[in-house]
Amino acid sequence: MTQQLTGAATTSGARTRWWRDAVIYQVYVRSFADSDGDGIGDLRGIEERLPYLAELGADAVWLTPFYASPQADGGYDVADYRVVDPLFGTLDDAQSLLRTAHRLGLRVIVDVVPNHTSDRHVWFREALAGGPARARYHFRPGRGPEGELPPNDWQSVFGGPAWTRVSDGSWYLHLFAPEQPDLNWENPEVRAEFDSVLRFWLELGGRGVDGFRIDVAHGMVKAAGLPDIGTAEQVRMIGSQTLPFFDQDGVHEIHRSWRTLLDSYPGERIGVAEAWAPSAERLALYVRPDELHQAFNFQFLRCRWDAAAMRTVVDDSLAATASVGAPTTWVLSNHDVVRHVTRYGGGAAGLRRARAAALLMLALPGSVYLYQGEELGLPEVTDLPDELREDPSFFRGAGQDGLRDGCRVPVPWTDEGPSYGFGPGPGWLPQPESWGAYSVGAQTGDPGSTLELYRAALALRRRLDGLGDGPMSWLEGPPGVLVFTRPGFVCTVNTLPGAVELRVPGRPLLSSAAPDISGESVRVPGDSCTWWAI
Ligand code: NOJ
Repeated sequence: MTQQLTGAATTSGARTRWWRDAVIYQVYVRSFADSDGDGIGDLRGIEERLPYLAELGADAVWLTPFYASPQADGGYDVADYRVVDPLFGTLDDAQSLLRTAHRLGLRVIVDVVPNHTSDRHVWFREALAGGPARARYHFRPGRGPEGELPPNDWQSVFGGPAWTRVSDGSWYLHLFAPEQPDLNWENPEVRAEFDSVLRFWLELGGRGVDGFRIDVAHGMVKAAGLPDIGTAEQVRMIGSQTLPFFDQDGVHEIHRSWRTLLDSYPGERIGVAEAWAPSAERLALYVRPDELHQAFNFQFLRCRWDAAAMRTVVDDSLAATASVGAPTTWVLSNHDVVRHVTRYGGGAAGLRRARAAALLMLALPGSVYLYQGEELGLPEVTDLPDELREDPSFFRGAGQDGLRDGCRVPVPWTDEGPSYGFGPGPGWLPQPESWGAYSVGAQTGDPGSTLELYRAALALRRRLDGLGDGPMSWLEGPPGVLVFTRPGFVCTVNTLPGAVELRVPGRPLLSSAAPDISGESVRVPGDSCTWWAI
């Protein structure tokens, strides 16, 4: 299937703003498809599976970091931003993947990790040696009579102090693992280097990548003087309160300059912020017209399966982004959180809710991020043996959920084989035995499967003019039920466990669980979502 890329500002110069309603599929590179049998997913494996993503109906693919890295944090510790780690392939593989994606009509977004480097990055090796190279990072003397105490009370997101002492007695800042020293964005060399890295990927092989997912986009600038916070409960405050290391006003100037850089390339290249801000209003600042195009909407991801709570999040999200003219994004899962089937209660109920939530999300105005395997209804793997875990937040003991390996288990493609088609041999994390039944092969062609539900939903979303970007308004519904309308369309979501009776709003298009229509009324099953044409 070959599609035309619609957003390219090519011959006509028309800008379609493709990203305003794009469905962007997140590939966690290490766990998607292993072409060479080393148990680790790689770029060739992804390229081979791109037709699957095009047929699924994705508009773009976001690839998590595949750069040279000692893998202290799944590749979010980059040692060389212009080199593909041999674990994942070569630069030629990256170019080939880009070419194939573009031929299939898929855009490609790659991660950029500007808040910190790996401690193996040449800059950090130079900084350890002392001298002016230290100014690229945050080195400080310690407190206490012998400088034996960290310079301030900041905690690492992964637990423990955000400072590590080096052999000459000074300390360096790392908001994440000690292997991820924070860069000093006040240093002009840092800015120049990242401009160059962005250009490298935007130009790779000619056409280059279509955008960047910006890791820790809210953390690059720290409050002047690195002031104490006064409590050790900092990780819990992320996303709800202001912290001197997150969401400082100074970050916006960087994003504005990146926007200018992105806009200097043809084809509407985008920047999407991974930003944790204390409110929807603060988050909207990242997507002002001269800043980034999108920001992940973690309020939606964090919301419980409850109609009133979801309605509030939807309203707040739409109002905040509308205030700056940006689209909202919706996301239910990613490589850092427990998969939503499990968050919503797990088992049959969790799956029912996850299927309904997916239809809800895909009917809302804006752009949608899907995390690999959610289209299969994969649950979190909660019983991984500790000795196989790799997540640094597990080892440091106080991470966001402490269990990020359970959502990173390799994708099952076939209902048998040593890793259910992930690769020729076993994968880097074992898949539960039940995962053959979740595989792409097992679900394809089964109209009741979650995969076919996603395929149908994405196809309809593309076909119906009223979905994607545009208006929506709430209609009246009983408690526990969300009803909203979009041009030519109504969506009903029953978040209660039991069925509810509604007036038939239109002609049923697609359901996560079949409604029972009789005359003017319809019984909508518990934990379900239905799309209606009006
Ligand atoms: C956010 C990424 O999604 C996560 O996986 C990583 O550990 C941190 N940023 C640090 O880079």
